[in-house]
Amino acid sequence: MRFDGKVALITGAGSGIGREVVLRLASEGATVFGHDRDGDRLAETSSLAGGISTRIGDVTDPAECTAAVAACVAAHGRLDILGNVAGIARSEHVLDVTVEQYRAMMAVNADACFFFCQAAIPHLLETDGNIINIASNAGVMGQAYTVAYCMSKGAVVQLTRSLAMEFVKTKLRVNAIAPSGVNTNLVRGFQFPENVDFALMAPYMGFRPMTEPTEIAALFAFIASDEARSMTGAIVNIDNGVTTG
Ligand SMILES: NC(=O)c1ccc[n+]([C@@H]2O[C@H](COP(=O)([O-])OP(=O)(O)OC[C@H]3O[C@@H](n4cnc5c(N)ncnc54)[C@H](O)[C@@H]3O)[C@@H](O)[C@H]2O)c1
Repeated sequence: MRFDGKVALITGAGSGIGREVVLRLASEGATVFGHDRDGDRLAETSSLAGGISTRIGDVTDPAECTAAVAACVAAHGRLDILGNVAGIARSEHVLDVTVEQYRAMMAVNADACFFFCQAAIPHLLETDGNIINIASNAGVMGQAYTVAYCMSKGAVVQLTRSLAMEFVKTKLRVNAIAPSGVNTNLVRGFQFPENVDFALMAPYMGFRPMTEPTEIAALFAFIASDEARSMTGAIVNIDNGVTTG
């Protein structure tokens, strides 16, 4: 029960990695506040976890990010762990990306992480808490046909490192997890555009089966726990060697 007495706010809690993180932290004693725009899936997560507090909202609205943190602290009196998990992904030829698609990618994957961190940090400083952002192998390597996604995840990597430095003299810890393919709805719904050169994608396809979201949740729980006391500013890859070669 590593998280007895701790409060965790997890975005993207309705599906995939976010759902498994909720279940894992709750199973180890945390009080979890789940956030997602999909109310039905969020309710399903809550029921799987035996009942957690939830909030339906769209992370692309900075005011919603601030309000969600405030609601969590109002409900539970403190905040120890922020997990920025909500995310979207698309594959496209860069010349076809519309302004709306580009802005949506940055708004969910990068901007929301910034605004959640900004709202949460004052509370996390009070509890010597920590932040875990879900980045991606796409944030640390160049990938064809996912330029906007790579840019958004690169921003998550730099957000993580920069916050870790700004607060390095406090006990606040800020880390990121960088998975490659994880078996979730995001990957199951992934579609490549027409006329792609598959040879260009080989370097990030990997050689091993996909990671299960429970594996990401286990790593998340370790980093969020006091056992990882000395970890801050880390970008931890869990990618079956995709970024190794
Ligand atoms: N699945 C992978 O292969 C993989 C690999 C690397 C990184 N990631 C990252 O992991 C994170 C979780 O992805 P997942 O694979 O679990 O995907 P998922 O689609 O299963 O879950 C994402 C959740 O985010 C929520 N969400 C999306 N946009 C939102 C918005 N505007 N407001 C509120 N909630 C919103 C969705 O409703 C969904 O419940 C994402 O940041 C993703 O980029 C995933």
